Amino acid sequence: MVAFYYSEPSRTFNEFLLIPNLTEKNCTPKDVDLKTPISKFKKGEQPDLSLNIPFSSAVMQSVSDSTMAIALARCGGISFIYGSQSVADQAAMVRKVKEYKAGFVVSRSNLTPQHTLKDVLDLRKKTGHSTVAITDNGTPNGKLFGIVTSRDYRVSRDSLDKKISEFMTPFSSLVYGKSGITLSEANDIIWEHKLNCLPIVDGATNLQYLVFRKDYDAHKGNPSALLDDNKSYIVGAGINTRDYKERVPALINAGVDVLVIDASDGYTEWQSETLKYVKSNFDVKIGAGNIVDREGFLYLVESGADFVKVGIGGGSICITREQKGIGRGQASALIEVNEAREKYFQETGIYIPICSDGGIVHDYHITLALAMGADFVMMGRYFARFDESPTKKLKIGNNFVKEIWGEGSNRARNWQRYDTGGKEGLVFEEGVDSYVPYAGSLKENLDKSIGKIKSTMTNCGARSIEDLQKNARITLVSATSLVEGGAHDVIMKESSLSGE
Ligand code: XMP
Repeated sequence: MVAFYYSEPSRTFNEFLLIPNLTEKNCTPKDVDLKTPISKFKKGEQPDLSLNIPFSSAVMQSVSDSTMAIALARCGGISFIYGSQSVADQAAMVRKVKEYKAGFVVSRSNLTPQHTLKDVLDLRKKTGHSTVAITDNGTPNGKLFGIVTSRDYRVSRDSLDKKISEFMTPFSSLVYGKSGITLSEANDIIWEHKLNCLPIVDGATNLQYLVFRKDYDAHKGNPSALLDDNKSYIVGAGINTRDYKERVPALINAGVDVLVIDASDGYTEWQSETLKYVKSNFDVKIGAGNIVDREGFLYLVESGADFVKVGIGGGSICITREQKGIGRGQASALIEVNEAREKYFQETGIYIPICSDGGIVHDYHITLALAMGADFVMMGRYFARFDESPTKKLKIGNNFVKEIWGEGSNRARNWQRYDTGGKEGLVFEEGVDSYVPYAGSLKENLDKSIGKIKSTMTNCGARSIEDLQKNARITLVSATSLVEGGAHDVIMKESSLSGE
């Protein structure tokens, strides 16, 4: 006799399709808004934290570092910086994202007024930078005394020993901006004064940033960027249930916007304790997981989770199901958790966002996940393919690939994620070390995926994720209808064989 037996098989995304609803003429892809909540909120109120697109990158060494976080937030999504590194290193990554200002560059070529023309030429040769900031102590944030560009000297005429103070454009003649200014205000000054570079200084005339004319175009085209009130990118970070008392304050100090407890099985007393500790000591949003059923969901919600992450064993690099026999098809898990969330909402008036984590292979799986109740998805493999992921790009045969390894692999040694309260350390692997086909830049790929999602949503008559969740009609597909859905009974041309 088994304690409880689910007689229905657990289902994966591949087993479902969406059936179109009526598409009204004013429901085109440009009418679709993908804004979505990431933290719980009361009926009739707005969430404190939302994403502009329903994408988050996985809490993995091979996926989410500061470079990925900046690139994804620029497009409207969020990265959760991996926690399987020292507290100081993770906090430094978070800080790097928070301090990054699109178009605002920390000066990397700096000298003092006492340096010489020879020093300028040597530095330019080394860095290739055309603008050298002259500060009292030669650091990027020293008191700004002037700027040197090639317009300030003539190598054929000036002596190499000439002191910078004799030929720099001094601070008194510089046009500068004050810290706190926006990129577009900086750009207006650049255009008005026909400058190539605008230094930004604080109240004590210490140099903060340089804004270059040439960078403006590259940064202005991100209307969806996910920014906080200070115009810094929003960033998340993964934590575990062992060292949170040390890790959480350091991450908050670095400016993190949202945390997530990252564990392969989140239905544990350790997660509850961690949530309660964080919620009663800090004012920060925190998600928890992963769970795959109603009971796990309610347990984490009652412990204080701001969002809940769903999925066990469906990740591309996961072998948890093979190793331990736990998990559930991602679609079934989501459908059940969504039902529990709806019931909870009806009873309490509190909406808990759900993140579908792992197992997304095709772009339409994202739309399916949203239709099944997810407010956003978390992906590892998807993001690992891009230039912005932290891993090496290699050539294998004729193809470029990028590395990806699971947090439960020997390579990551993130035993805290798989912690079941036994002895510290990785006892057996729950993830693999592997490659994914290299796919180019994040933005290019994301634009395509978003294009497909919006197009499907218009087929479903949905202008928002909430519309889709309420009105989508989903059907199970048979194995033979899957064959019918791909190209079939034709001879494919070589050029059609690649691509998603
Ligand atoms: P995808 O399919 O998007 O999944 O690559 C990413 C998610 O997989 C989980 N993850 C793991 N699960 N062993 C596991 O069982 C691992 O080594 C591992 N590494 C990551 C995680 O939830 C991630 O977001």
